[in-house]
Amino acid sequence: MIKDTYPKAILVLCLGNICRSPIAEGLLRAHLKREGLQIEVDSAGTSSFHQGEAPDPRSIEVMKRHGHDIRTQRSRPLCIEDFERFDLILAMDRRNLRDARALAPTEKAGAQVQLLLDEEDVPDPYYGGVDGFEKVYQMIDQAIRQWIDHLQFKE
Ligand code: 4NP
Repeated sequence: MIKDTYPKAILVLCLGNICRSPIAEGLLRAHLKREGLQIEVDSAGTSSFHQGEAPDPRSIEVMKRHGHDIRTQRSRPLCIEDFERFDLILAMDRRNLRDARALAPTEKAGAQVQLLLDEEDVPDPYYGGVDGFEKVYQMIDQAIRQWIDHLQFKE
């Protein structure tokens, strides 16, 4: 997965950067902090549909229910520079993965782009109900715990 050094910066990615990746950013920050790991974290969308907007109120609510405040996050689109700034980009679904890889400068240089879940999409909850946000929260939380366990954190 990650060769023999830990990532210095991780970007989490979805389509709008208002539903799934803000949850992922908040959880990644919380879990890394709990583990005492200093890794830069950000999130982005493959689209600019919601650029500058705060997370979806349903994402804010589900995170609040679990003790996290993500109200200050703002949506931004993925850009070429992200492939240099981040060494790991975790995509929420296969469409995000494909779109990110299409934008990547070259396959060999820069960030590794991977699915957050192993061969499974975190479903887009935007057009669904509040239940979908709790489901997505649980999926992301579990996946991020696993990623942190997997990464080889070497000084
Ligand atoms: P996200 O959800 O990719 O998890 O932020 C979406 C938010 C907005 C739209 C689609 C997905 N949209 O089409 O506006």
